[in-house]
Amino acid sequence: MLSLSHLLLLLPILLLYLLVRRILTTLFFHPLSSFSGPLYLRLTSVPLSIISVLRREPEVLLSLSKKYPPSTRAIRISPNLLFFPHTSALKPIYWSPTHNHKGSLYGTGALGPTSLFSTISADDHKALRKSLGGSQWSFSYLKNEQESRIDNLVTLLVTQLSNLNPQHVVKIDDKLAQFAADVMTLLTFGKPWGFIAHDRDEKRLLAAFRESLPFFGFAARCTSFRELFLASSLMRSLLLPTLDDKTGSGYLGAQAKLAIAQRERERESQLEEENRVKDYLDYTLDARDSKGNPLTQAEKEGQVTLLIQAGADTTGTALGATLRFMLQHPDCLDKAKQEIATAEEKGLLSTPVLYEETKQHLPYFVGCIKEGLRLNPPAPNLFGRVILEKEGAMIDGVHVPQGAEVCSQSYTVGRDPELYGPDAEAFKPERWLGDDEKHKAEMEAASFVFSMGPRICLGKEIAIMELYKVLPEIVRRFDFELVEAGKYVVLGGVAHNRGFKVRVRRRT
Ligand code: HEM
Repeated sequence: MLSLSHLLLLLPILLLYLLVRRILTTLFFHPLSSFSGPLYLRLTSVPLSIISVLRREPEVLLSLSKKYPPSTRAIRISPNLLFFPHTSALKPIYWSPTHNHKGSLYGTGALGPTSLFSTISADDHKALRKSLGGSQWSFSYLKNEQESRIDNLVTLLVTQLSNLNPQHVVKIDDKLAQFAADVMTLLTFGKPWGFIAHDRDEKRLLAAFRESLPFFGFAARCTSFRELFLASSLMRSLLLPTLDDKTGSGYLGAQAKLAIAQRERERESQLEEENRVKDYLDYTLDARDSKGNPLTQAEKEGQVTLLIQAGADTTGTALGATLRFMLQHPDCLDKAKQEIATAEEKGLLSTPVLYEETKQHLPYFVGCIKEGLRLNPPAPNLFGRVILEKEGAMIDGVHVPQGAEVCSQSYTVGRDPELYGPDAEAFKPERWLGDDEKHKAEMEAASFVFSMGPRICLGKEIAIMELYKVLPEIVRRFDFELVEAGKYVVLGGVAHNRGFKVRVRRRT
């Protein structure tokens, strides 16, 4: 029999053997071993996870897309993950009904109960999306049912900015994120939580969400971390938010639970306010699966929580980033102001400006918004999909074997010189206005900011409506002096603006 000292000697040898075997397998015997990619990324999923936590993912992926020649259509950025940096890969990945199975990124549980977003299987997603994705997400619904309520929030924001001392330095990124959070609580629960009215981050919803992102980003990318630490329910309960939390996602989860219970009671006892405009909580309760059954309790909670997590900080980031680009490009800002003045002289703009008015009468402003979204996408995550077909799949001219995960990323594809040309990285609203209809249609079709295909963002129209209303309205009413441009920060695949400060003066 082996003695303890022999065992202790054998242990490091065994560990070394396992490590060497893992390295050799990953590099030479893995189905993706023939793909190019930096050695440090091909070996384990840890470096990619660290890059995400260090807020360097967009820059690293963009630099990889430039480092490899255009003939390299897929780059191996983790042992089992291929990154496609060109827009030509988007349709084959995200529109294919067969690749609609989500990758391991989604299984962290860090954002609360399983929702439409975190449903992994394509079939389960299809059924859930069918029951939840009704006409309440369309522009016409929003225009008819919700726009006037959003107008009240726009007016409140304008009043608050008007009351500021012109010498006062405002963190405009926070203000705009708070506006978006109020819109989401309004649409979800029927009443805004008061982010703008109280001029604060209610229940630290935005701050706590951002604080959760390093963990979410790391766990989503690091396979071994998930296997070691998130597999047991004990560890999950220690590491993930709980309903007892007084702030953040845990608090939001508890509020979702309470709101669902209360609305269900009101519905049963028919105590509902007369003529109440339906909110997304109602639509969640109304949703039925293919057999006519309501959603499960967990699905209802997951959906209600998701709407706020998916729609608040993302839209706030888009608002802030676009305004920053405009202030950093005074020539563009002047053109946008001139366009507004011309439309105003012709009596084409309401107060606050309506979504449809911006769309029809402010095409240059719309170009600014499209550029803001393209260059600073609010959700530049690695939205991975799994290749399930036995024979693998062809993506952008590359054969990908079964079992591999494939992804693209909006920050890099939004700068693809193959589509946007040599000035792809420049803020240039004019690119959306030229006469080349075919090219404009190609750019529209290749926009990956809200994803595409069967899992495209359900709240895209809400976000666009907010952008088309708030930004023209504040540019119309105020002069902004840029004090600090701050930064667009990407953490865990989700972006926010940091340190964007201005002085605001109401225009007479
Ligand atoms: C500028 C703002 C926004 C951006 C950039 C954005 C981006 C995205 C992206 C990229 C996805 C797809 C993720 C994936 O493939 O896994 C997504 C999904 C989703 N988004 Fe958004 N989003 C925004 C605003 C909103 C808003 C305002 C809401 C809602 C109220 C919302 C609700 C959702 C939902 C429910 C999903 C899941 C859809 C599904 O899986 O079927 N989003 N969003």
